[in-house]
Amino acid sequence: MRRLEERKKKKADKKNSRQGISAEVFGQFNVKVEFQPKVIPKDAETKDSIKRLIEKSILFSNLNRDDINIVIDAMEEIVTTPGQDVIIEGEQGDTLFIIQEGEFDCYKVINGTQTYLKTYKPGEFFGELALMYNAPRAASIKSKGDGKVFGLDRTTFNNIVQEAASKKRKYYSQILSKVEILAEVDPYEKEQLCDTLKEEEFTAGSYLVKQGDQGDRFYIIAEGKLIAEKKENPSAPVKKVFEYKEGDYFGEIALVKNTVRQASIKAETDCRVVSIDRDAFKRLLGPMEDILSRNM
Ligand code: CMP
Repeated sequence: MRRLEERKKKKADKKNSRQGISAEVFGQFNVKVEFQPKVIPKDAETKDSIKRLIEKSILFSNLNRDDINIVIDAMEEIVTTPGQDVIIEGEQGDTLFIIQEGEFDCYKVINGTQTYLKTYKPGEFFGELALMYNAPRAASIKSKGDGKVFGLDRTTFNNIVQEAASKKRKYYSQILSKVEILAEVDPYEKEQLCDTLKEEEFTAGSYLVKQGDQGDRFYIIAEGKLIAEKKENPSAPVKKVFEYKEGDYFGEIALVKNTVRQASIKAETDCRVVSIDRDAFKRLLGPMEDILSRNM
C-alpha cells in the first residue's frame, strides 16, 4: 500500500527520466507498443475487495473475466489523509480512482470561484475524464478524512476499459441530446447518466408499464411511438391519454411521488427505449424533480 505523496514523487521522477529517453532514443518513431499488463502484487483479500468493487461498478460492467483479472492485477492501493488533494484541476492525470474507504469532495472553478460540486462515497469512481479524452483534470478531488482508493493506470484503462465505456457514452449521448428536458443538465452529469442507461426493444402492442404496478425505472424513448392508457376507476373503460415519440420520457411520476404507476404504457410501433433505475434517477435527476413535477 502506498501513500499518495510517495506515489506522486515517484511518478514525477519517472516522467523526467522518460522524457530524456524518448527524445534521445525514440525520436520521431511513434511505434505502437504491445500492451503489457501491469501486475502489482497484492494478497488474496485485497484482490477480493477490488473484485467486489469493480463487479458493482457501472464503468467496468462490460468486462469479461479475463479483463477483470487484468484490472485487479494492475490496481494500486493508495491511502489518503484528511484534506489531501488527490486530483488538482488543470493538471495532467493518468490515473482513475475507485473508492474503497472514505469520502472525497469534488470542486471545480466556476466563474473564477472554487465551487463544491459533490461528495464521492465508497464504490464510486472519479478521474476517468482525463483518461477518456486525453484532457487536463476537469475538477479537483480532495480526501475528506482518511481514505483508501485503488488507482488504475492510463495504459490499462485505455486497453481494457476505455473502448466499451467511451462507446457507450457516445452512443447514449446521441439519444439524450434529443431529450428537451435534459438540455439544462450539466454535461458531465449527462455522461454519467449514459453509464447507467439500459436499452430495451419492444414490439408493437406490448406493454412496458402497467397501471397500478410498482415502478422503479424511468424511461426515455430512443425510437418509435408509444401511448399512455388509463382507467379512471376499476370499472371505467380504458382511455388513451397521451402519445409519445422519440425524445419523450415517461415513468417519472412513480419515482418522484413514490406511488404506483398512474397509467399503462403501450408500444404503438416497434420501439427502443433506454431506462435508468430509481437510485440513478434520484442521484442524477434528483435536482430536476421540480421541473419534472411541473411537467406532470
Ligand atoms: P478528471 O477530469 O479526470 O478529474 C477530475 C474528475 O472530477 C473528473 O475526471 C470527474 O471524474 C470528476 N467530476 C465530477 N463532477 C464533475 C464535473 N461537473 N465536471 C468535470 N468533472 C467532474
